[in-house]
Amino acid sequence: MSPTFLLHHCPIYLGPLAESIPSWLKNQDYSQVFVLCDENTRQNCLPYFLEKTGLPYKVQWTEIKSGEGEKTLATCEKIWQSMLDAKLDRRVLVVNLGGGVIGDMGGFCAATWKRGVDFVQVPTTLLSMTDAAIGGKTGIDFHGIKNIIGVFQQPAAVFVDPVFLQTLPQRELRSGFAEVIKHALIGDPNLSDRLLSMETIRSANWTDILQKSIAVKVRVVQEDPLEKGLRMLLNFGHTIGHALESWFLETDEPLTHGVAIYIGMICEAGFLMGKRDLRAEVVALGQNVFPHLKIDPNIFPAIWERMQQDKKNSSGTVRMAVPDEMPFSLKIIEPDQLAVERSLTFYNTLS
Ligand SMILES: NC(=O)c1ccc[n+]([C@@H]2O[C@H](COP(=O)([O-])OP(=O)(O)OC[C@H]3O[C@@H](n4cnc5c(N)ncnc54)[C@H](O)[C@@H]3O)[C@@H](O)[C@H]2O)c1
Ligand SMILES: [Zn+2]
Repeated sequence: MSPTFLLHHCPIYLGPLAESIPSWLKNQDYSQVFVLCDENTRQNCLPYFLEKTGLPYKVQWTEIKSGEGEKTLATCEKIWQSMLDAKLDRRVLVVNLGGGVIGDMGGFCAATWKRGVDFVQVPTTLLSMTDAAIGGKTGIDFHGIKNIIGVFQQPAAVFVDPVFLQTLPQRELRSGFAEVIKHALIGDPNLSDRLLSMETIRSANWTDILQKSIAVKVRVVQEDPLEKGLRMLLNFGHTIGHALESWFLETDEPLTHGVAIYIGMICEAGFLMGKRDLRAEVVALGQNVFPHLKIDPNIFPAIWERMQQDKKNSSGTVRMAVPDEMPFSLKIIEPDQLAVERSLTFYNTLS
């Protein structure tokens, strides 16, 4: 089986692991394999992984607790401790079997273990298949600040097998779906058409959708590996979305990343002035998938305040990257508080 994409020498395979992994391993020379998983991927994904890949090496694995709250230096210490206990040498292959938390943290631990050993990403959530596993960003949260410690390090390979989506809870499937919508709006009208003709999110043809969605991410990262220009497009929806996500995280009703980003995309799309009715496109792509919420206008100022802490800002000005004409063009918007509040009010009129 040949790779579906090649990103800076990193092959990305889309298809059954039983074909992709053995075919890639034929040309590699590792001494052993070390798999990192969490309790959910150990139960739902590890047996399939071990059975289908039939790795010709000594395989050891370790499990950490799932969740964003575990993406910390303390968990890294546990991972490095298990690596030490497992007596890993520099020819080990680390396999990150999980969602974005496992991929980001496992990538970081491998990239720093003995000054760096090879790792591969085997993403098991929709979000990590289409987004987190691709592009070489690894890292952890620190003092509550997301992804503040980390390194850019491309994996040795990425193996995407949509079979894992069968056990993924609906809320997680939805969460990744927002990134798929984002990719469609950035660079592929055909992907938009596919999403619009999908009956339910469960019955989607994921191989086809992932092929198109990953292609957009690959193209953007290829052109801008260190996030100096075009890659900012991948932040569409995330300036207002992250502010919403972090505000709701402190309430009894947190939003998933995807729901927050979907609302963020609706709001940010309204800032694009031109021929393209981007806001109508976002609404159409997500209306049968995402819940219609009402955001209390009393919290609008707090959302604005959080937007001002966003890492994309420079010298105190809030900046958002919004896709412009198709494909792959962006507009940088510097909104003021009133305009952001107006966009949230517009979102409220949809429900
Ligand atoms: N590196 C990047 O470029 C990048 C891009 C986007 C997001 N991220 C990061 O990704 C993380 C979010 O990733 P995520 O949404 O995959 O979350 P996650 O890794 O927390 O996974 C979500 C939940 O699904 C469970 N799970 C995973 N696969 C499963 C399966 N097949 N069946 C059943 N349950 C399964 C996990 O145990 C977890 O409880 C964040 O930390 C974010 O910062 C990184
Ligand atoms: Zn995102």
